[in-house]
Amino acid sequence: MGAILYTVVTSCLLLSTIAAPNHHGYQKIHVKAIQRSDGIQKINRHSHKSGAAQVPLVDFFKGTDLQWIGNVEIGSPPQTFSAVFDTGSPTFLIPSADCTPANGCAKDVSKFNPSRSRTFNLSSNTPFEFSFFTGGGVTPGNESQSGFLNTDRVSIGGLTVDNQEIGLVDSATPGFAPFLKHFQAVIGLGSAADLDGARNPILPALVAAGELLEPIVSFYIPPRSTGHAELTLGAIDHSKFVGDIHYIRPAVTDGLLASIWNVNFTNIFVNGRPTGVANFAVLDTGTSNIVAPSNDDAAAIYKHISIDIKLLNETGVFGIACERICELPATLDFEIEGRKYTIPSRDFNAGPIEGHPGMCQTVINGGDVGFWILGGSLLKHYYSTFNVETKVVGLAKAVEEL
Ligand SMILES: *[C@@H]1O[C@H](CO)[C@@H](O)[C@H](O)[C@H]1NC(C)=O
Ligand SMILES: *[C@@H]1O[C@H](CO)[C@@H](O)[C@H](O)[C@H]1NC(C)=O
Ligand SMILES: *[C@@H]1O[C@H](CO)[C@@H](O)[C@H](O)[C@H]1NC(C)=O
Ligand SMILES: *[C@@H]1O[C@H](CO)[C@@H](O)[C@H](O)[C@H]1NC(C)=O
Repeated sequence: MGAILYTVVTSCLLLSTIAAPNHHGYQKIHVKAIQRSDGIQKINRHSHKSGAAQVPLVDFFKGTDLQWIGNVEIGSPPQTFSAVFDTGSPTFLIPSADCTPANGCAKDVSKFNPSRSRTFNLSSNTPFEFSFFTGGGVTPGNESQSGFLNTDRVSIGGLTVDNQEIGLVDSATPGFAPFLKHFQAVIGLGSAADLDGARNPILPALVAAGELLEPIVSFYIPPRSTGHAELTLGAIDHSKFVGDIHYIRPAVTDGLLASIWNVNFTNIFVNGRPTGVANFAVLDTGTSNIVAPSNDDAAAIYKHISIDIKLLNETGVFGIACERICELPATLDFEIEGRKYTIPSRDFNAGPIEGHPGMCQTVINGGDVGFWILGGSLLKHYYSTFNVETKVVGLAKAVEEL
């Protein structure tokens, strides 16, 4: 589900100036131990625990404006990596020193070397293979990583878990290649282990270790032009949203999907008009676009916008001539528990499509996962907070200018 892949440009404004993926937006950052916002200090005054941490995120631009990365430390002494924090997947994945260029890890990719960590624990060495449907880029595709599950100490923003399960990736499909040199870890922020007890995500482990003041993780992932993106563990940063947080119950509370962040939505509005489409959706910080359960489901929404939006690649890419996309009114509202969550028209354009000159991709991909995925193009407009114990997700209107 969540995470990674490829793309070019998102905004209409940028189309004329940026024609190809670029790296100018990328900047390596370091997680400062704990930088507390006002909101968090207020909470911490009553607490002796560390309790909360803020991890600055950068918008990994590469054209998307829809993917955010920050740092994580693994092992002792710590080896530092750049990571995607992914509410759409359950597993902690990191390329291992065993991953060769022939297996998808180029020479310049930073890899975790377990032999240099004294806390590395060759505990289970269970083989795994983990698939990403969307990647997370705007180009859909079936990508996967495989390797072995073991454990080691992991720290995010100074909050630490010993014996955290980590998937040491020794093989990745080629779709990961353009990204691995910029970010390596995919940190699945699922709320619980899988039914079979495998895949133990880090959030419940942080709670069990007493590291979190509250059992929550919160995201502020605004457009790159706004900046100051951040992940907050254990607290909510009240300076990053306006109005109230509205809490949404999980659609299902058991089964595989209950371990990631799922909600029911009761309608999709196109330019204010209801389409009658209702379904189950995963709120996914690791996916860039919106993903419909099938190409037909995506087409059913597009027909309310323009008959000229066509399926351009059976992998689920839809598009229309770039010269027409900016003029299309295409506001999408997802109605969840009686409230509308909006993707404005200006985010309808997901950039030029490789191999289709003059065509621009539209924000909904067709998928084959059986439910909707609401990714960065929606979540960039909302402050989101995810509760590991109640499985409730809170959304509030994000501050859009700082
Ligand atoms: C290694 O991992 C196993 C299984 O998780 C655990 O029982 C054991 O205590 C760990 N060993 C050390 C030294 O932490
Ligand atoms: C979500 O929708 C499913 C299917 O309609 C239903 O079974 C479930 O009870 C709903 N969950 C909530 C919290 O309304
Ligand atoms: C569809 O996408 C795949 C993967 O990105 C690509 O290899 C293929 O050439 C594309 N096909 C068309 C018709 O664009
Ligand atoms: C992705 O993989 C699934 C399961 O293996 C398969 O059903 C589906 O057709 C694949 N989708 C694409 C676009 O290749």
